[in-house]
Amino acid sequence: MTKVLVAYASKNGSTEEIAEAIADELTSHGLDVTCRSARDSDAKDVDAVILGSAVYAGRWLRPARRFLKAESDRLRHLPFWIFSSGPFGDQAAHPSEEDLRWQEPHKIISRAQELGVRGHVVFGGRLPLEPHGFVEAAMVRNTPGENHDARDWAQIRAWATTVAEELGAREQVEGPESS
Ligand SMILES: Cc1cc2nc3c(=O)[nH]c(=O)nc-3n(C[C@H](O)[C@H](O)[C@H](O)COP(=O)(O)O)c2cc1C
Repeated sequence: MTKVLVAYASKNGSTEEIAEAIADELTSHGLDVTCRSARDSDAKDVDAVILGSAVYAGRWLRPARRFLKAESDRLRHLPFWIFSSGPFGDQAAHPSEEDLRWQEPHKIISRAQELGVRGHVVFGGRLPLEPHGFVEAAMVRNTPGENHDARDWAQIRAWATTVAEELGAREQVEGPESS
């Protein structure tokens, strides 16, 4: 069975939940999936990798940056995909050129492209539920409540399905015929 690692870096938990949804979708397509923090992961003994991070101030979080660097030799020889999570509100729905500069970690994308990444996607993010510090608190205060969580679960699962299809996975059939 194809072994897939979904590794993530998340400060306030919302990217971790995206990674879990991706892992769940891949599992439902019959893949053997491990989902864990990029801090505690490596790409040893897996057949494919998905690496994702929240974006803060235009950058991926350190555990994901480190993973990409430390595992580059292995990633070069594996099918792998990357995702970023961050934008919310209007920035998620209608990003301007300026917004895109902050949503897409350009250095990371270039590095991943050098290693042969199959794709990069930006998912909407979620503002912290318990903001720490002045900046986070101001962002939460200045954003209308209905825009706090821009994660589109249908989009996330559809993207995971395209990855599963590229990996040649078959939908697992639930029910008596599969037992
Ligand atoms: C202080 C701060 C800075 C942020 N900077 C960016 C940014 O540069 N680009 C972006 O797309 N999102 C940015 N965001 C949004 C976060 O990426 C978003 O809240 C994300 O879902 C957080 O993921 P996490 O819960 O996994 O930490 C920022 C959020 C905060 C609180």
